[in-house]
Amino acid sequence: MKISVKKICCIGAGYVGGPTMTVMASKCPDLIFNVVDINKERISSWNNSDLSKLPIFEPGLKELISQTRNKNLFFSTDIKEAIESADIVFISVNTPTKTRGLGAGKSSDLTWVEASAREVARYSRGFTIVVEKSTLPVRTAEVIENILNSSETNSKREEISFSVLSNPEFLSEGTAIKDLENPDRVLIGGENKDAMDALSNIYKAWVPERKILFTNIWSSELAKLTSNAFLAQRISSINSISAICEVTGADVREVSRAIGTDSRIGSKFLDSGPGFGGSCFKKDILNLVYLAEYYDLKDVANFWEGVVNINNWHQRRISEIVIKKLYGTIKGKKIVVLGFAFKANTNDTRESAAIKICKDLIDEGANLIIHDPKVNPRQIENDLQIKQISEVNNEKDITLQNKFGQWRFSKSFDIFEGAHAVLVLTEWGEYKNIQWDVIEKKMVKPAWIFDSRSIVNAEEIKKSGLNLWRLGDGS
Ligand code: NAD
Ligand code: UGA
Repeated sequence: MKISVKKICCIGAGYVGGPTMTVMASKCPDLIFNVVDINKERISSWNNSDLSKLPIFEPGLKELISQTRNKNLFFSTDIKEAIESADIVFISVNTPTKTRGLGAGKSSDLTWVEASAREVARYSRGFTIVVEKSTLPVRTAEVIENILNSSETNSKREEISFSVLSNPEFLSEGTAIKDLENPDRVLIGGENKDAMDALSNIYKAWVPERKILFTNIWSSELAKLTSNAFLAQRISSINSISAICEVTGADVREVSRAIGTDSRIGSKFLDSGPGFGGSCFKKDILNLVYLAEYYDLKDVANFWEGVVNINNWHQRRISEIVIKKLYGTIKGKKIVVLGFAFKANTNDTRESAAIKICKDLIDEGANLIIHDPKVNPRQIENDLQIKQISEVNNEKDITLQNKFGQWRFSKSFDIFEGAHAVLVLTEWGEYKNIQWDVIEKKMVKPAWIFDSRSIVNAEEIKKSGLNLWRLGDGS
């Protein structure tokens, strides 16, 4: 039987809920999308008339928001009203790693998913399709179904019913709009064929049918964890090879190019960097590790845990190299850090390699000047759990020498005077065209440029007389 869909509710207006519903609204002008969140500040930022103040930065997002917002896309805190009128509810809330109790440090904290399911049970009317958009442990659909069918409701129990589907999201931050508009695939896991068709009909407005995959619900949940685990595994693999390159005289860029031309391996996700960050890779692998341990598959658990362990080791390796190259001590030395986001084109810093690396350098007594074009300094303060001395906007403000272990944020590039080193941690486009010959004159000699992203112009740096260390460059 064909299920009619007119209104969609998305619980969670974050990095997934916001862009996903915006793209859906732009592709399906006849459907109404209500995106709701408990975070009032976030919702008011989504409704800000100044589109530069949206809560997240994604290329192409503000253009789509201006086309759809308050037409068929609405952001609000009225969760009750949005659920009551919805034919489909997407659950798109955070699922961080548990910090205490059973499974702490590995399993997912389902507090927010459970709360969302209880809200759906309470306010929904008639038949509702409930879609897991968040990344969840395998068999969470069972938990959601239990809650939906047994918790308190405002309607008569016999008047409401649900079908739970898994529809994991594969977007990457920084390219979210592009990924959503042209996904490699859309995965729908479930049992109820009519509900699966209703969901796939939404995607069919812009996604070719051959890209819409149907699976059973557990395969869909596991495929999402596996996809992130495989991607992260490639990064840990190439980062481990970068260390071998440095001691053998090989160059990791050349090794990546050489192996990437093998069509069985492919060229993507072979860029050695400061270690993978982002809110999901680590948490999703640890979730997989927890699952394997739970089912007594210790060797499987160890295998995947190794991917996270190498990443931790690799991040520590970078700060150690900086310290060693600067004669074993960075106490009181000014180091310019270029980039704090976990990757370019996002303001997100969750699990960014920069957090651990900057903390290590501050612990060793360095004076860091941190530059990032999109990250808010308050966020950096929160991540480092160290207050910045004050905001630096020009060279004259920099009186940092001889003070012990501290950091400041700068929006400007006027920050190189008196620096002993520059450390590139995020591959922002603006770092590609720095005039190193001008900067060389301002730095304390011997001055070092540490490039963990292979984006600076190596020739220019060497020509200007600066010392260059590039990740995985043993040549
Ligand atoms: P996020 O923290 O940016 O957003 C989650 C939002 O949910 C928050 O704004 C929070 O206030 C809201 N929320 C929590 N409980 C709520 C409730 N009961 N009612 C209403 N709102 C509630 O998280 P995110 O990055 O958007 O990730 C969401 C999920 O998607 C996670 O499971 C994540 O693993 C997965 N995912 C994330 C990405 C990504 O690139 N960030 C990509 C694919 C999948
Ligand atoms: C990742 C996946 O790519 C998405 O498919 C998935 O939906 C998402 O996680 C999720 O589930 O949250 P994201 O974390 O946004 O997306 O960004 P990626 O491009 O995957 O980068 C993750 C980290 O790996 C970044 O720190 C990035 O700099 C690093 N990376 C990536 C490398 O070091 N080398 C590479 O070759 C690629």
